[in-house]
Amino acid sequence: MEPQPVREEPLGYEWPGSYFIGEEELELVTQVVKAQSPFRYYGLDRQHMCDQFEKEYAEYIGIEHTLAVSGGTAALNVAMAALGVGPGQEVIVPGYMWISTIAAVVNRGAIPVLCEIDDSFCMDPHDLEKKITPRTTVIVPVHMSGTTGNIEEICAMAKKHNLRVLEDCAQAVGVAYKGKKVGAFGDIGIFSFQFNKAMTTGEGGMIVTNDRLLFKRCQAAQDIGHSRNLKGRLEVDSQVLLWGIGARMTELQGAFGLAQLRKLDRITAAMRSAKYRVREALTEIPDIKLRRVDDPAGDNGAFLITTYPTAEASQEMSQELLALGIKAGPGGNLLCHFTGYGFHLYYNLPALVKKASTSPDGFPWTHPLNQDSNYNYDKGALPQTDDLFARSIIQAIPSNCTDKDVADMIEAYFRAARHVLG
Ligand SMILES: Cc1ncc(COP(=O)(O)O)c(C=O)c1O
Repeated sequence: MEPQPVREEPLGYEWPGSYFIGEEELELVTQVVKAQSPFRYYGLDRQHMCDQFEKEYAEYIGIEHTLAVSGGTAALNVAMAALGVGPGQEVIVPGYMWISTIAAVVNRGAIPVLCEIDDSFCMDPHDLEKKITPRTTVIVPVHMSGTTGNIEEICAMAKKHNLRVLEDCAQAVGVAYKGKKVGAFGDIGIFSFQFNKAMTTGEGGMIVTNDRLLFKRCQAAQDIGHSRNLKGRLEVDSQVLLWGIGARMTELQGAFGLAQLRKLDRITAAMRSAKYRVREALTEIPDIKLRRVDDPAGDNGAFLITTYPTAEASQEMSQELLALGIKAGPGGNLLCHFTGYGFHLYYNLPALVKKASTSPDGFPWTHPLNQDSNYNYDKGALPQTDDLFARSIIQAIPSNCTDKDVADMIEAYFRAARHVLG
């Protein structure tokens, strides 16, 4: 028999920035429209929205250089190009990520090497060390689902082995670890402002680094292969002469991003408050294990991950929570069992498992320089990660939760746990 729902009314959607869009975005975007100047580098009356967005984002992160781009996927491709990733190189990526992280490696002609996650649901530093080979050049810790693992240990290991670190902070906008913002730990970091990230520009991204040469190379790669001078004019600098991918941000996105950035701390505070009230309550249920969060104050609060003693129990819990009403309205995906979480799981990426290629020659898998980098990406490649996926549930925390919403979530977990876990 279907359980009586805790609530009939849908919870909010998993699109944090959306509930905060208002007059501020309208005002700044209108300014760009009225000035008839939506392009960042020239126009009738430039409003310098992208410039200002980059400046305030740099201050927010506490970093020297920032570059606004068209999206997080673009940012990853640009950052890989800036790092000089190519055939003959291996890039280490955790088994829990987003397809774009892997795509950026393959697009450069390098080979992705999978690393286990630990109970932080981020890269496991112990497995990382085992995955380093003489061909490894870059490590990509992915700060998944709104918080991070032990990023300090990962960076220390990279230093020891003379490797570069690219932090994928797409899902970690506003996240800090021991008071320092993510993105500022590695050599370079990327962020996404796509619609379901902690703040949004619809589509958009940011690259951050303290390394001026990397920054100039990013500038070239995101544009047409040339960097730009302080006036925004293209320049020919032989140190940064690359091939561009055309991923510039527009002034409309810049204006939108500026308005959202100024609200970011309010957005994350709302999610964090709701999430930690739920987490606190769930500590009373011994069979529910909460994701390890080393620095709760630095969590952006966007996701709640719970793990159960068995795969069956977690499957039943997720079905029951949905039936009890822990879901958003049509088109939303607030809660799911981890194994149903699509292109975030390495074995759910057909292009990776089948080693797909854009060109008929099988590049990069068939490139002679990659012949020693022959890996298997099927389910089973990362047993520890597979086990966590099999026993866990992921739930987004809406940024508009009321006290009643929080109370209903808690009641649903308790009711489902009583039924499923006994
Ligand atoms: C971990 C991770 N990396 C990269 C991306 C790509 O960002 P975007 O959607 O802005 O291209 C995403 C977002 O979907 C992501 O979750």
